[in-house]
Amino acid sequence: RDGIIIPRCRLVRIFRQQSLEGFVGRKVADWVCLAKHESSYNTRAINRNKNGSSDYGIFQINSKYWCYDGRTPGASNGCRIHCRKFLDDNITDDIKCAKLIARQARGLTPWVAWRKHCRGKNLRPFVRGC
Ligand SMILES: *[C@@H]1O[C@H](CO)[C@@H](O)[C@H](O)[C@H]1NC(C)=O
Ligand SMILES: *[C@@H]1O[C@H](CO)[C@@H](O)[C@H](O)[C@H]1NC(C)=O
Repeated sequence: RDGIIIPRCRLVRIFRQQSLEGFVGRKVADWVCLAKHESSYNTRAINRNKNGSSDYGIFQINSKYWCYDGRTPGASNGCRIHCRKFLDDNITDDIKCAKLIARQARGLTPWVAWRKHCRGKNLRPFVRGC
């Protein structure tokens, strides 16, 4: 199916089920904030970078290092997946890859939007009422 905007509380439930909670010391609220500021919860989000790579899906996963899109020079496809898979409404594979990225970095610092908008902020509003 095509991508969709995933409602915030549904995202919270998915992240809790897929045990993103506590992962590399980050809470579900961090992941929800990250998704909000990377993609506005839109699984179809795709953005071309100046350096020729592109970012895909709700977590804006980069084609230089993590997925294959057939048009990024020197890409390494760390998650062993086609980038297009990050654009559908099943975010299980996105989460799996995001966990790998976070594990390698020991945190969410690879995501510019998280550093800028989420790190050290009050993130309770992202899980409130869910
Ligand atoms: C290309 O740009 C994106 C977005 O600015 C960045 O995430 C990525 O690390 C860059 N890749 C390289 C190889 O510089
Ligand atoms: C979502 O994708 C995963 C594999 O990435 C699969 O195991 C699961 O059944 C899919 N869920 C739905 C609802 O299609």
